[in-house]
Amino acid sequence: MIRFASTDSRRETGNIKWDLQGPIPFGIADMDIESPPCVVDALQQRLNHKFYGYAFMTDDLRQAICAYLHHRHGVEHPQPEWLHALPGCVPAFTLVAKTCCTRPEHEVMVCSPVYPPMLHCHEDANCRLLTVPFIHRNGTWEFDWEAMESTVTPNTRMFLLCNPHNPLGRVWSREDILRLGDFCERHDLILCADEIHCDLVLNEGLQHNTALNLPEHILQRTVMLSAPSKTFNIAGICFTYMAVPNAELLASIRKIQGHTLPTLNVFAYAASLAAYRDGWTWHEQLLRTLRENRDMLYSYLEKELPMLRPQPLEATYLAWIDCSALGVESPHDFFLEKADVYLDNGANFGSPQHVRLNFATSPEILKQGLDAMRDAVRAHLA
Ligand SMILES: Cc1ncc(COP(=O)(O)O)c(C=O)c1O
Repeated sequence: MIRFASTDSRRETGNIKWDLQGPIPFGIADMDIESPPCVVDALQQRLNHKFYGYAFMTDDLRQAICAYLHHRHGVEHPQPEWLHALPGCVPAFTLVAKTCCTRPEHEVMVCSPVYPPMLHCHEDANCRLLTVPFIHRNGTWEFDWEAMESTVTPNTRMFLLCNPHNPLGRVWSREDILRLGDFCERHDLILCADEIHCDLVLNEGLQHNTALNLPEHILQRTVMLSAPSKTFNIAGICFTYMAVPNAELLASIRKIQGHTLPTLNVFAYAASLAAYRDGWTWHEQLLRTLRENRDMLYSYLEKELPMLRPQPLEATYLAWIDCSALGVESPHDFFLEKADVYLDNGANFGSPQHVRLNFATSPEILKQGLDAMRDAVRAHLA
């Protein structure tokens, strides 16, 4: 059963969304939905053990992730030794960038708009960033293959992919992933695929296409990153894994990591094992709930706020909304000041006239926020 949080239950808990993002927060990718009962039970059991010493990723969890990759994403022979645990996806792709880009003239390529930390990982890696804008064509967003070809240089070392895409909500097709693999092969790039939203595909009949299904020779230059954190709403528990089929590449990544990160905490392992093993009935209900919220949001916008144009959303619970018709300098500031609604600022993703709206909340809170946005827009246009 999906249980929504009430406003009061999330406030004053040290939560970024509810304590730092204004009266009605539709920001950061954190759902106002309780984690699955199997996860809560596993955490309670682990807590009751009363010993919380150093932990490692046990074979149970490695096997559970491999079984999940095989059954849910069709990876033919995922291997437990491909997996490496880290406390977050952002440190993970930053670490891959550091491994690939060893000189200041080296470059990471990424297509924009995109999840903001991807536009900054080169700063930690002390190298350069190449951004190639997606093209908006026939109502959808596509890779600009020509621009990618003309932008890549002999110094480019890594392509950072977000799939499903945050904030565009696109599930890249098998053809896109194959073409990207070929692009990386021809230009000798490591393909680092952040697939943290891979279990949040909302359109029935549509499938996530993991980079782990690329042909063997391209797998040797592929790093896939994922986590149970978005799907099961346990981001604060901090568990991510990278899957690296090339043992030498994984050894290089571990070497660059050195001693800069701690071992993961006992709760991260307990929660992740329970989620991957037992969380799938809850997950089906979650997808139904998110579809209902998406449909409510989109029909509300169409009817009440037609000047806000949301991108059709195939995956994630983050709607990407074009607000250029509003005619304000910063739609993010406008909705915060005039409606008390916090929306993620498109400027941080590389697109200042957009906002990103997190609709994984109760229908009541969603309606309350949308009504406030509608009233603010009406007053603005009056
Ligand atoms: C594409 C993407 N990668 C990574 C993250 C964050 O990952 P973590 O909290 O594990 O660093 C997010 C969170 O919204 C995301 O959307």
